[in-house]
Order: sequence, then C-alpha cells, then structure tokens
Amino acid sequence: PAPADATRPATDMAELLPSLPLETRCPPLPLRRYNGFWLPESVLTELPAIHARLEPRPSDVFLASFPKSGTTWLKALAFATAHRATHPPSDAGHPLRRMNPHECVQFMEMDPELRRDTGSLLEEFEQLASPRVLATHLPYCLLPESITTGEGAAASRVVYVCRNPKDAFISGLFFVKKVSSAYGAGASAGARAFNLEEAFELFCEGRVFAGPQWRHVLQYWEASMRRPKQVLFLEYERMLRDPEATVKKLAEFMGCGFSKEEEEGGVVDEIVKLCSLKELKNMEVNRSGGNQAGVRNDAYFRKGSSGDWRNHLTPELARRLDKIVEEALQGSGFAF
Ligand code: A3P
Repeated sequence: PAPADATRPATDMAELLPSLPLETRCPPLPLRRYNGFWLPESVLTELPAIHARLEPRPSDVFLASFPKSGTTWLKALAFATAHRATHPPSDAGHPLRRMNPHECVQFMEMDPELRRDTGSLLEEFEQLASPRVLATHLPYCLLPESITTGEGAAASRVVYVCRNPKDAFISGLFFVKKVSSAYGAGASAGARAFNLEEAFELFCEGRVFAGPQWRHVLQYWEASMRRPKQVLFLEYERMLRDPEATVKKLAEFMGCGFSKEEEEGGVVDEIVKLCSLKELKNMEVNRSGGNQAGVRNDAYFRKGSSGDWRNHLTPELARRLDKIVEEALQGSGFAF
C-alpha cells in the first residue's frame, strides 16, 4: 500500500484505510490521517471515485473551507450570485427561501449518512446546469488534479473562506454538541463525553475533521498566491465587515460581475440581505427543517460574529493555540 503521506489518493483506499492512523475521540465520526490531514473514513473511501469521475467544467466554482468557517454563508452568497438571472434575489420563491444552503450547493464528498452511492451523486453533478457551484472541505492537496491544474478561462475556479482558528474551534464545539445525537450509534466514542478541554486538545493536535486547521488554510492561501485567477481567498471576518464588497469580488471572480444597472438597482444589497444570518436563520426551512441524517438546519446558524472565542476560551488556552498556529505558519508569509 502507498505510505500514509503519499501525495496522490491511493486507488484502493479500502485496502489502505486500516493502515492509516486512527482517531476516534473526535465526534461525530472516526477520522484517519491521510496526506497529513484528518478526514472521516467515509470521505477517504470516496476520494478515488471523485478523482476519477468528477469532470470539472471551466464554468464550475468549487467553494472550499475548513468546517465552521462560513461555508453555509459562502454557499448562499455564491449560489445567489451565480444564479441571479434565473433566480432574482428578491423573488419570493427563491430557492434559498425554501431550501437550506447545503441543499442548494452540495459537498462533492458527501456526508456518509446522506450518501447515495457515489456513482449516482457524481451523475447528479453531471446533470447540474452550468454554472455549477459545488463545495468541499477537502484540503487543497487532496483536490482532484483536474481542479488544481489549468489556468484562465479553460479551468474551473476555487473560492476559499478562511476564519480565525479560535472562532472556528468554538463554532465547531457548539455544532458538534448539536449534531452528535443525529449520528447515533455511528458517532465516535468521544461524542458522548465531549467537553471544551478535550476538544481543545484535539484541535491543537489537528485531530479534527480536515485538521490541522492552519495547514488547511495555508495550502489554499498558497494556491491563491500561485494561481490568483483560479483561487480566491476570502476571510470570514472581512466578509462580516463588508459583505457588499465581498459579493462584488465574488461575482467578478466567478466571471459574472455586476452591471452598473444591477448595482444601481440594488441587486448586490438584495443578495447580501437574502444571505444574511438574520434572514436565513428566520426562514421556516432553516428553523424547522433538517437533512436525512437528522441534522437540523438550525445547527448551521448561531451567532455569526468575530471573536466569540473570548466568551469561551481562557486567555491561557487562547495563547496556547495562538503559539501553535504561529509556529506552524512561521516563514510561510501567511498569518491570521
Ligand atoms: P458561529 O458558530 O460562530 O456563530 P459553517 O457554515 O462553515 O458550518 O460555519 C458556521 C458558522 O458560520 C457559524 O458561526 C454560523 O453562525 C455562521 N454563519 C452561518 N450562516 C451565516 C451567515 N449567513 N452569515 C454570517 N455567518 C453565518
């Protein structure tokens, strides 16, 4: 079998999987380390099929993120922006008013509880009309080469959203508490006794879904430096400060910039409003709906602020994580 830190996904992942380092304390799912990242076994199992069968189109936009970094918001913004011609944001029947953003934009690696067989999921993607918007929590090094190579109009694009690691950690802690029961017997052991201290240790060791967080961020940041036309790097905190500028930047990058008429007609503001936390959180579908795995849609919407970690982490814990992250990023040119 290929070594654990091989650069390409092994074709026979099922065979390789048992030999990879295992972490069962991080809810809701058992994780394995592959290429330096901790990922659910089910995601790793699907990786070869995704690499072999996903055929990116030049108009595709892949939304990438470390979990709990603003994925839901980015999905809503990108979907509303890309499809504004067919679905004007002011429409009472807009898909985002009847569907959770995760239904409008699916992850290319599926939640195991929601997974149909991988073949049919990829077939579903094939049938989506262009421009397709798909999402992923995969680290950059595990994206299909068909996404990470190619330049200009002939290649697909990636939009990454990055968030302060302490806020991503706290957001994840609340999320896991809300969703663990949904995973029931399939949940990893830690789901039953998950507290801040234990979760913090695991986060610091990078032993969380798609962790280490800072390495995930760094890879996409480096890619955005190397391939600025193909990879757009956004920051959740900046998005909060200026969502209108974010939407304009996003539209430009996706190749569908706003016309003067649209801007003057308030389309940008309408998209920002439609996708705001307040608006989405209050929609009936997000208050009472849920997915097939039993994860309630309201779990995706909490405070949506910057710096909430101050209400939960002691200064000592905060300093510890800061130090780990700073050391890991030293010399990279990137800092949070
Ligand atoms: P908090 O838990 O800090 O409130 P993800 O979508 O990657 O799972 O990230 C979830 C975080 O994004 C949560 O952060 C959630 O409240 C916030 N969020 C969800 N929808 C949002 C929106 N429309 N605008 C701003 N933040 C949003």
